[in-house]
Order: sequence, then C-alpha cells, then structure tokens
Amino acid sequence: MKILVVGDGGREHAIAWKLLQSSRVTGVFCAPGNGGTALLAKCCNVPLLSDDFEGLYRFVLTNAIRLVVVGSEVPLAKGITDYFSQYGVLVFGPSQLGAQIEASKTWAKTLMEEAGIPTGRWASFTDAESAYTYVEQQTTPIVVKVDGLAAGKGVTVAMTVEEAQSAIAAGFDGQFGDAGQRLIIEEYLTGREISVLALTDGTTICPLIPVQDHKRIGENDTGANTGGMGVYGPIPWVTAELMRRIQQDILEPAIAQLKQRDITYRGVLYAGLMITPDGEPKVIEFNCRFGDPETQVVLPLLETQLDQLLLACVNGTLAEETITWKPRVAACVVAAAQGYPGHYNKGNLITGIGMGTDPGVMIFHAGTRLNTSTNPPVLVTNGGRVFGVTALGDNFQTAFSLAYSALNTIQFDGIYYRRDIGHQVR
Ligand code: AMP
Ligand code: GLY
Repeated sequence: MKILVVGDGGREHAIAWKLLQSSRVTGVFCAPGNGGTALLAKCCNVPLLSDDFEGLYRFVLTNAIRLVVVGSEVPLAKGITDYFSQYGVLVFGPSQLGAQIEASKTWAKTLMEEAGIPTGRWASFTDAESAYTYVEQQTTPIVVKVDGLAAGKGVTVAMTVEEAQSAIAAGFDGQFGDAGQRLIIEEYLTGREISVLALTDGTTICPLIPVQDHKRIGENDTGANTGGMGVYGPIPWVTAELMRRIQQDILEPAIAQLKQRDITYRGVLYAGLMITPDGEPKVIEFNCRFGDPETQVVLPLLETQLDQLLLACVNGTLAEETITWKPRVAACVVAAAQGYPGHYNKGNLITGIGMGTDPGVMIFHAGTRLNTSTNPPVLVTNGGRVFGVTALGDNFQTAFSLAYSALNTIQFDGIYYRRDIGHQVR
C-alpha cells in the first residue's frame, strides 16, 4: 500500500516515519515534505502544495495511492477531503464542514453549547463597538480570539480591559483577512492545560495518550504564543477516571452533535483542555487534525500500526481496533530559528543532524530543506520551528536527558530551544 501524506511539518515527518514501520506500507510520498522526509528510506517528497487539489489528485491516480493523510487544518478547511471523496479516494481527515470545528470558533462554541460540553463562557461579535462594550462589563483577565484560522496568532489573553480592546481593534483591522470578520470573547480559564488527540470514524472515538504542550516561546511559560515548543506524555497526573470524563463529557458528545448536524467526522478530533483546579476538564479549543509537536511524542509511543488505525477511521471500523502503547514515556524538545514566532532567517546550514544515533531518539524535521545543489547535499533551515528531538525513556528524567543531549550535538546559526520543557515532571 502506498500512502500520500499532505504537509511539511514535524507532524508529517512523524506520520510518515510511523507509517513506514508497517509491513503493509510499501511507500510514502510527502507533498511537499521537508528535509527529513526527503532523507527517510522508502519516502519521497512530491513538489506539490497542499492546496493544489487537482495536482495532488493527478499524483494519486498516477501512483496508485491507497490513502491520503492530511496533516494541517488549512487544506481540510478548504475542502480537500470533499474534493478527493467525489473521486472515491480515501482521505484521513474530516470534511470541510467537519473542519469548521477548528476553522470557526463561533461554530465550535455553538456546537459545544448544543452538546452541553463544558467550556468557558463566551460571546461572538461582528463589530468592534459591541465587543468594546461587552468587555467593559466583564472581569479580567479575558481572552479575545479571532474567529477563523490565524496560525496560532489570533488569540490574546488580555490582563486589562484596555488590552482586550486593543486586541479587538487589531482583530477587526483587516490583518487577519476573512478570519477576523468575527471574533469571540471568552472567559479566562485557570488550571493545567493538556492536549488529548482522539481518533474517530464518526461513531467510535478513541482517545490517544494525554500529553502536555508548551505553547510559549520563553522559559517559565513567558513571551509570545507559538505552535508549540516541546511536549511530553503520557502525563502522569492524568488518571483513568479523568480520561473517562473527557471521553464521556467531551469527546462522545462532540461526535454525537456532529452527527446530529449530518457530519460523519473521520480523522483526529484534538481537544485542547484546561483541567480546572477542582479537576474538571473544560474545552479551550477543538482542532480537526493531529497536533504538532504532540504527534512527535504520541506516535513513537504507539505500538499499534498507524496505517491500520487510519484505515479503520476512514472505513468506519474503528470499534474493531485495539490501540496498544509502549510501556514508556516520551519527551520532545523543539528547536526554532532565532526570532520565531516573529521574523526569522532561512537557509542556515544545519550540522550534526542524523536519524537513529540512539534507537530511542528520533529527530523529526519541520522547517528544514535538503539542498541538493551542493555535493554532497546539505540540510538548511527553512522555517520557524526547525526540528523536534523526541526521546523515549523508562522515566521522564532519562527521556529529557537523552533528548537534550541529542539536541546539543546539532547546530545552526541562531538555534533556540527552551531548556525547561517538561519541568513539571523532571
Ligand atoms: P487556542 O489557539 O484557542 O488554543 O489558544 C492559544 C492558547 O491561549 C491556549 O493554548 C491557551 O494557553 C491560551 N488560552 C486560550 N483560550 C484560553 C482561555 N479561555 N483561558 C485561558 N487560556 C486560554
Ligand atoms: N501544538 C498545538 C497545535 O498543534 O495546535
């Protein structure tokens, strides 16, 4: 079986790497992929962008691709699954309507309200004046979010009314395009933030291990929000009872409510959750895809073959599957280019990077490119988050120490990473 993975991040490298461990998978193609997928055995990069549906379809036909796995929310929200489904091509990832659960915060909050899913109080606005008036009546901190996809840049946790009002002004000033036509204002939730990714075929929903991301750029969780600077899992304090509540009060009602709207949601439903001080899980947001870097710790710990689970989601047979895990823990630290999440340089030479020096250490590339115009070819930086180093261990101390030692051997101009990832468990 040949599989096409759409995307170019660390997540897609991890997906391709895990798929290739299955004896049923004869080859993986990545469109467009990165320097890591270019170097992976039995994996080939395809120079097609994720919104070139026609080009991707031609590639699928010519290469007898059995399954398309979509990494990012952007092509899903543009309807890549609907486009391929009309030609009978199997796609892992929800339809355009299903992807609204991430692509419109108002849509997602309405769904949660209908399903009785616990989440922060909220209100939705299409003009700045009413939003200004609303925040004056609320307590701070308060959270302002543009409604649409904003690559993680559309959320402001405002400490004062003035800060909330400038976020409202910025939201409506056009910089977010269509995503900023509407925004929501949400109650500030306190507690511990976790990510639970779940596989679903639209009826059955199977949560994967709970993991903890580190969203802020700076140590001690300071500075700007990013896509995620490091992650570990499974989280030791998340009990089976808490997972049961998440399943029963959040994941199952979400899938049932999507069904109520005639949406058979197949793919990953990712719940970003706040576990409040009294132990209650509340939804911060839903995403319609695998998380990044979350996937870089979840897949190395997964024992079951990924192709089998993804096909079961697409074919509606997930209830027949059992998911098993390695009895270990995983730690991932992300290396970014100086300046990220703001402006950063590309094209810097990366040295010391290799897969498989230690069998328990994986390097998942994100913003890297294989420059083949030199002899021998070299790896250069090509994005904000450049790669993630994942290490497995019998405990978090070992896993983090392995991850940081591997990271120490890799160099590029302006390399930056947080040294406190997993401080909660080390
Ligand atoms: P989002 O893109 O909605 O996940 O928001 C980005 C980050 O902002 C989250 O990972 C949280 O750390 C923070 N955040 C978002 N909404 C809230 C909220 N209602 N209360 C507290 N923090 C929040
Ligand atoms: N790491 C956060 C996300 O994938 O949205």
